[in-house]
Amino acid sequence: MRLALAGPGRAGQAVAIAANGAGHEIVAVAGRDAGRTTAAAGRFDAVSLAIGDPIPPVDLVIVAVRDDAIATVAGRIAPVARNAAAGVVHLSGAVPVDALDAFGGHGVDIGSFHPLQTIPTPTLGARRLAGSWVGVTAEEPLRSTLHGFARSMGCRPFDLADSDRAAYHAAAAAAANFPVAALVMARRLFEVAGVPFDAARPLVEAVIANSFDTTPRASLTGPIARGDAGTVEMQRAAVRATVPELAPAFDAMVEATSVIAASSPGEEDR
Ligand SMILES: NC(=O)c1ccc[n+]([C@@H]2O[C@H](COP(=O)([O-])OP(=O)(O)OC[C@H]3O[C@@H](n4cnc5c(N)ncnc54)[C@H](OP(=O)(O)O)[C@@H]3O)[C@@H](O)[C@H]2O)c1
Repeated sequence: MRLALAGPGRAGQAVAIAANGAGHEIVAVAGRDAGRTTAAAGRFDAVSLAIGDPIPPVDLVIVAVRDDAIATVAGRIAPVARNAAAGVVHLSGAVPVDALDAFGGHGVDIGSFHPLQTIPTPTLGARRLAGSWVGVTAEEPLRSTLHGFARSMGCRPFDLADSDRAAYHAAAAAAANFPVAALVMARRLFEVAGVPFDAARPLVEAVIANSFDTTPRASLTGPIARGDAGTVEMQRAAVRATVPELAPAFDAMVEATSVIAASSPGEEDR
């Protein structure tokens, strides 16, 4: 496909790099900062544009600006995309497709294409896209186009209804962010105990693997799951004594884990 990218940030460039590697052509890059936009365009030998400049004919425009700028940027691109683009997508998992409604009446199909992956830099993100799942929200014929686009980059597309988007994004945030919060806490406490954080890597990797090989609930072990209340109290006291600023978060994690431990493994699967 011929692609145009609006918003050459981390996710947009990552998708563009992966698409380029899969044989798609990035023909234009539009951005608000001329220097950054020209640098990104140079990566693909694409034309560098300002947001709102006329775009050359493309199969797909990828609006990759931050979530709260999608509707505004769409409003500026839609008039110039008339007769130039067949479809347009944004990359957000949280924002409904109607953020692209400015394209309504311009004969351009709208949708979203959300890589369920963390993209810290364009090159790291591009590498991680292969094998990642991608949430697609679009009606035919754009839906099939986006499924094919995802597969061409080695991604696994799945359909995501706009009405399920909020729960889906909460799930993605829970999966991506909550383990990080727990690991930050663990790292600090290992430090207090004089144990290298690296010592926890096999344990953490086993917990993640067990969660997917069985279920997250079935992989829960430790004093909360066993009902060893005395051990849990000893841990809480140690946190209060050594890293008191972590105590509220530790206690909240104990509470959340206790609720999960009190449910049966079967309940979680329903
Ligand atoms: N990063 C991830 O892990 C990830 C994963 C999946 C999906 N996404 C989605 O990808 C989209 C982009 O996120 P990102 O992480 O790539 O953000 P980012 O690295 O901050 O890049 C955002 C891009 O949007 C541009 N931009 C921001 N506000 C703008 C405005 N008002 N007008 C014009 N351009 C504007 C920025 O331009 P400047 O360079 O001038 O600031 C930059 O090129 C979001 O919808 C996000 O939900 C991100």
